[in-house]
Amino acid sequence: MRKFIIGNWKMNGLSCDLDEIVTISAVAQLHTSVDSALCVPATLIERAVKAVGAFPIGGQDCHMHKSGAHTGCVSGDMLSDAGAVLTIIGHSERRAAQQEQDSDIRAKAEAAQAAGLKAILCVGETLEEREAGKALEIVLGQVAHSLPDAAAGGWLSVAYEPVWAIGTGRVAEPADVAEMHAAIRASLVARFGAEGEKIRILYGGSMNGDNAAILLAVPNVDGGLIGGASLTAAKFQPILAAAQAKGE
Ligand code: 13P
Repeated sequence: MRKFIIGNWKMNGLSCDLDEIVTISAVAQLHTSVDSALCVPATLIERAVKAVGAFPIGGQDCHMHKSGAHTGCVSGDMLSDAGAVLTIIGHSERRAAQQEQDSDIRAKAEAAQAAGLKAILCVGETLEEREAGKALEIVLGQVAHSLPDAAAGGWLSVAYEPVWAIGTGRVAEPADVAEMHAAIRASLVARFGAEGEKIRILYGGSMNGDNAAILLAVPNVDGGLIGGASLTAAKFQPILAAAQAKGE
């Protein structure tokens, strides 16, 4: 399976950052054994798409409805209309700050698919949940309840992002990542049969150039969702290189 390396710029990026987006896209496209993409703020999607050519640009959320009275929200059709080809769904920062529930995230994923977008659907436990020995139960519950029935077919990837590893510099132990990704894989295969083997499972949480090779070597880690280390080409490139080395 080709590795999938996606940058999540979160709420970062202004016009003056378009040059960096172009540099990132150019560097990423040199890594021909890797699938890569950059998810930028909605305000930058259209300009980023125009600036980078064929490189995939994505959004970071997608409303479950196509249009209507939802002030401040962005629909799948809007993302697609702006030139996005993918979107993140159910990021833990949205699960926490916007109180997004599994049922919302499932509807959003279905809306993304209907709009012709690929979806990166995020799951992950908090530190309290891990310390209480509930990490597997929580994450497998999120997988069961937030993935749509039509998740197979190549348009959806799952991103396992332990909340306590996001933006903290604290990376999950490879053994814990292996355990979680194996459990997610087993649940995907139980639900989707052989198609469940093909759904990519990405790791996210303080992935960087120093730890990417180790994390990407863990069984069932099919790529990465990268926050801070995707903000510059200089930081993103070593992650792409580590993924390229696995793909050769
Ligand atoms: P960091 O790579 O900054 O820890 O963020 C991970 C993340 O939340 C990607 O979606």
